[in-house]
Amino acid sequence: SDFTLRGGKAAASVVILGAGVAGLTAAYELGKAGYDCTLLEARERAGGRNLTLRGGDRLTEARGPAQDVRFGEGVYFNAGPGRIAPWMVTLDYCRELGIPIETFVNNNAAAYVHTNGETVRARTARADMYGYVAELLAKATHLGALDRVITKNDQETLLDFLRRFGDLGPRLRYEGSERRGFTEWPGTGGGAPIPAPGTLHQVLAAGTGRAITNDFGYDQATPMFQPVGGMDAIVKKLTEAVGADRIRTGAKVTKVTALADGVEVAYTGGTLKADYCIAALPPHVMARIPHNLGADVTAALRTPVPVAAGKIGLEYGTRWWELEDRIYGGVTETDLDITHIWYPSHDYHAERGLLVGYYNSEKNAELYGALTPEDRRRRALTQGKKIHGEKYRQNLLSSVSIAWQRQEHIEGGWVRWPSVDSSFTLLQRTDGRVYFAGDWLTHLIAWQAGAMESARDVVTRLHQRVLQSP
Ligand code: PHE
Repeated sequence: SDFTLRGGKAAASVVILGAGVAGLTAAYELGKAGYDCTLLEARERAGGRNLTLRGGDRLTEARGPAQDVRFGEGVYFNAGPGRIAPWMVTLDYCRELGIPIETFVNNNAAAYVHTNGETVRARTARADMYGYVAELLAKATHLGALDRVITKNDQETLLDFLRRFGDLGPRLRYEGSERRGFTEWPGTGGGAPIPAPGTLHQVLAAGTGRAITNDFGYDQATPMFQPVGGMDAIVKKLTEAVGADRIRTGAKVTKVTALADGVEVAYTGGTLKADYCIAALPPHVMARIPHNLGADVTAALRTPVPVAAGKIGLEYGTRWWELEDRIYGGVTETDLDITHIWYPSHDYHAERGLLVGYYNSEKNAELYGALTPEDRRRRALTQGKKIHGEKYRQNLLSSVSIAWQRQEHIEGGWVRWPSVDSSFTLLQRTDGRVYFAGDWLTHLIAWQAGAMESARDVVTRLHQRVLQSP
């Protein structure tokens, strides 16, 4: 997976708009190949949506009060990206940059599923759904429903699997299973299994389907990973490698002009001329910056729709989810407007800890985003209490919430393309001196890997062009 721009040293200059993960990756790879890069970043710090908040930080948002982060020593909140799949290029950068990683627990049998007003452990919800689905399929097989579909021999193999899949009884009935968990765990004695499941009707009515399949996807399957100490280790290490002096923060781009022999970029600190430009900022933000790239480019930039996304970090004085619920990392899935609760996959048994009390997008994120930070916290606590009880409100030390659609110069959690569109191709394959990069130009939207893959694609094409030019 080694990535290198080959074919001799180039001396071209490149101005990169935006020092998020795409911009930083582009600068890093171009820098290795000898290019002279300057990054213009409108925000006060690099990283974009890769944002880790710690005690002493201050989070501002558009049309709202600033929040002072009061977390204790060692407590952090990944307000943006939080998990990395092992196949993603993000891990290659962690390896190359010497960023230690640890497991991110994305599936925890001990976490809860809260749907239709009921709370059960994930292990219980799974055992019941798998059990009954297996029983039904076994029944269908015995009734001959599959006789014209598969051979008798295949039916035997299928039944053998269904017995294991559902932990079925001798008559291929689901009668509950130790997989559901125990009210008293086995030890010197056999323990007390959770009593028999509800009926098939009750289990179906519980509506746990979405919740228990969350990690089936190729991008959510266990194991997943996170950098030790916070996601922004990626920003820190990329910044160091690029050279912090190449990044101008608080630099808002006001105009982009493509010329015959280069690109001129006006920003709040002056004007910069370079041979090439990589616009690595959100499309809806770029669309508003005056440029001479043509009306079709502006229209294309306006096509992807920004999607709201938000999270709240809740810092507690005890790790009651470990002590009382025996939840070590993982995610509780809900049908409430908080969508998920994330338990920390690090610093187990520490004194304090931080939960993600909601992580939502679209309508629910708009709902929370429209509230004051205090009301967001209140609402998140009311919802979480439905799952965890009164202790969810006790021992809370501090909280911080982010509404990405209200973050200046970002204005969204990610984007959604209304359809597969020619705008996508137009912006991905530009042939002028201005290139576009970002997760929004890939099939890995809302992943750092998307930003990195896009950056690599753009610098490859830019480099080929430089090598071909006289
Ligand atoms: N990458 C984000 C996450 O892991 C958003 C996302 C969710 C993207 C699911 C794709 C699929 O939560």
